[in-house]
Amino acid sequence: MTRFAHVTGWGMAVPERILTNAELAVMVETTDDWIVSRTGIHERRIAGKGETTATLAAEAGARALVRTDLSAGDLDLVIVATASPEHLFPATACIVQDSLGATNAGAFDLSAACTGFILAMNMAAQAIMTGSINNALVIGAETLSRLVDWEDRGTCVLFGDGAGAFVLQASERPGGVLSAIMRSDGSGGNLLSVPAGGSRHPASHETVTKKMHTIRMNGREVFRFATRVMAGATRDVVERAGLELDDIELVVPHQANERIIEAAARGLGLPMDRFMLNIDRYGNTSSASIPIAVCEAIERGRVRAGDHLVLVAFGGGLTWGALALQWVAPEAKVPPARRRRRAITAFVARVRSFLRRVVRVIEGLIWGASSPDGD
Ligand code: ACO
Repeated sequence: MTRFAHVTGWGMAVPERILTNAELAVMVETTDDWIVSRTGIHERRIAGKGETTATLAAEAGARALVRTDLSAGDLDLVIVATASPEHLFPATACIVQDSLGATNAGAFDLSAACTGFILAMNMAAQAIMTGSINNALVIGAETLSRLVDWEDRGTCVLFGDGAGAFVLQASERPGGVLSAIMRSDGSGGNLLSVPAGGSRHPASHETVTKKMHTIRMNGREVFRFATRVMAGATRDVVERAGLELDDIELVVPHQANERIIEAAARGLGLPMDRFMLNIDRYGNTSSASIPIAVCEAIERGRVRAGDHLVLVAFGGGLTWGALALQWVAPEAKVPPARRRRRAITAFVARVRSFLRRVVRVIEGLIWGASSPDGD
């Protein structure tokens, strides 16, 4: 039997706090006019107290799940693509797994900066198509505001926080993920990085003083690289899917800069109305930008069952990639009973997690008294 990997659920979560260009103009030497004309960004969302990459990811994941007939326990895999994980470890995906109550799922993070969601989708789809798993939750989630140098006008105007999620399910019906391409060029890693906090530069007074835990970027070089790869990746993935560019109803590009997207459209000879744009309201949310843009495209009625979509991204690494898919998910509203089920599942997951922690403490008290040799 040939197996296909279909997107059956989608969801997004963004912080409530909106940071406008006018507010930024008070913080650094910039203007609304400069930001809008160079990037297309008007405002972005910024995580507040208690909001983290994991909380946004879990919320988006839960919203995606409630659109499907699956419960969290049916998930075999949770992948969180992120460049701003909750910790170096444990993986943000494990926190999401616990929070959702996905007790039968493996979970890991995928680090490929803004290209992460494309790679994560491809990994999950391949695992489904080979028969290794049936159901996966793929999330792109970021709180880049926590990594931004708020005194660097070259970067702080660009980034925003948020999360988007897809549920992928096995099906015998043709469609779903059709093709993907994944590329990288590590020689350009220095063009976009957070230099410290890892093995090369562990946290120290010096790394903090020199702001080495914040995003460093050579904007012009990243811009040149992005305009070079976006059109090519789109062409390649369409060809690999056995389609023509004309068959693609909607291209959903990584929302990094409106001018980069316009350059890609020119390179492909496609009109801009074939591209989804929502950078004006969210800025660059890295690995979350594509799933958030797809969710909003659906909301705006721009994605219908049977449509062919291309998702295309570039990012730090350097990395870039694209994914072609045929959308088959129903546009039905979520029945109220499902929303109630979601609330109950979330409560049960919290209780289960708490009890597991309690059991671990009790076990620690019992076994902790003995030495590892059993003395
Ligand atoms: N406000 C006002 N002036 C600014 C600002 C600002 N916020 N930022 C930079 N400038 C100034 C610069 O200092 C420079 O001044 P100078 O000429 O006196 O030196 C001038 O504006 C022009 O700077 P450029 O860098 O040439 O501006 P450019 O038109 O390239 O736009 C930008 C800068 C928006 C950063 C652009 O290069 C870009 O979008 N690059 C791609 C960035 C990107 O996509 N990054 C994310 C990758 S995805 C990921 O993995 C996270």
